[in-house]
Amino acid sequence: MAESLQISTGGKEERYALLLQQIRALMIDEPDVIANLANVCAAVKETFGFLWVGFYRVLADQLVLGPFQGPIACTRIRYGRGVCGTAWQQECCLVVDDVDQFPGHIACSSRSRSEIVLPIFIHNEIWGVLDIDSEELSTFDEIDTRNLTLLVGLIEEKL
Ligand code: SME
Repeated sequence: MAESLQISTGGKEERYALLLQQIRALMIDEPDVIANLANVCAAVKETFGFLWVGFYRVLADQLVLGPFQGPIACTRIRYGRGVCGTAWQQECCLVVDDVDQFPGHIACSSRSRSEIVLPIFIHNEIWGVLDIDSEELSTFDEIDTRNLTLLVGLIEEKL
């Protein structure tokens, strides 16, 4: 694995293609989940400059903060609360174009304007979520959803 992350100068698809290739290489010989999730956060944030990239794990009846990059965040989120807790409850990816329009959105940072949350599964049970916040409205589209779903697939293979 290269010492530093390579970032494509192309569009979003090209950036994701190179990002996924490098994340695959980063994780291939590393079995430690925390180490892998930490590097995933750094690689995604460095590639796209998102405000916040991180993981919450399901622990009993709450989501608990895991590895992340960005401003400090709330450590625990209840089932069905906020975008993360709703993605957990619905077990599906949620894309929020304007967080102020999402009932119950949890504002960890007032700079967050749009958000995407993807569930992560292990043996068909939800293990946690990947949460990404942007300082711009309507940042996340079909390209992000498709590529971040692929990214979550790589993570699920390592859990
Ligand atoms: N906004 C999230 C909370 C987590 S922070 O964005 C890091 C939510 O509404 O679930």
